[in-house]
Amino acid sequence: MRAPIDLLVNNAGFGIGQGFVGGDLGEEERALAVMCRAVLVLSHAAGRAMRARGQGGIINVSSVAGFVQMGTYSAIKAWVTTFTEGLSTELRADGLRVTALCPGFTHTDFHRRAELDMAKLPEALWLDADDLVRTCLRDHARGRVISVPGVAYQAVTAAVHVLPRGVVRRVSGSLASVRRPPAIDRPE
Ligand SMILES: NC(=O)c1ccc[n+]([C@@H]2O[C@H](COP(=O)([O-])OP(=O)(O)OC[C@H]3O[C@@H](n4cnc5c(N)ncnc54)[C@H](OP(=O)(O)O)[C@@H]3O)[C@@H](O)[C@H]2O)c1
Repeated sequence: MRAPIDLLVNNAGFGIGQGFVGGDLGEEERALAVMCRAVLVLSHAAGRAMRARGQGGIINVSSVAGFVQMGTYSAIKAWVTTFTEGLSTELRADGLRVTALCPGFTHTDFHRRAELDMAKLPEALWLDADDLVRTCLRDHARGRVISVPGVAYQAVTAAVHVLPRGVVRRVSGSLASVRRPPAIDRPE
């Protein structure tokens, strides 16, 4: 007999690191496949099995980027967060916990792989991956639907939800400029 799934963590993801129109469409489709479609399919399979047993939990790794407007990565993570919130409502009556983890900048391989230049980011804004995982598991155990580790990012998230959307959009646009421009956009 196969072991039941106690906890599904949809973590796989990557930074897109390119403008949309000037970038490679195939990379955008790959991002949707890994960060949306895989989350959808795996949550469906695990959610069914967990509901049948009346036990289990799902953590979908989203991002604070999903609360702002920094290109298609933000759009994808906004989907992950909203999808997770809906799923948590659907499965709550069955006693299942579902959490969207929304981290800010975290020390991992993420930025190197996406070729993002993070040299100007203040150290105070970096999260430690182990601390983040501890916070997320604690929030999940408490039944929190959205987990935002770190006081700085909790403040950012709170501000984003009260500021006019146009202001958030403008600030997001200037922050997105830390991304390295894609080769395809560079003049010959
Ligand atoms: N680091 C941050 O600042 C940050 C902030 C907010 C949210 N996040 C999110 O956190 C999650 C984990 O990223 P990370 O920071 O830990 O980055 P990472 O160190 O680059 O790890 C990415 C993980 O995703 C897996 N992955 C990437 N593409 C895949 C694919 N096509 N198929 C299967 N697995 C794939 C990688 O597997 P392999 O090693 O086998 O390639 C690796 O385990 C992602 O969803 C990311 O969007 C990260």
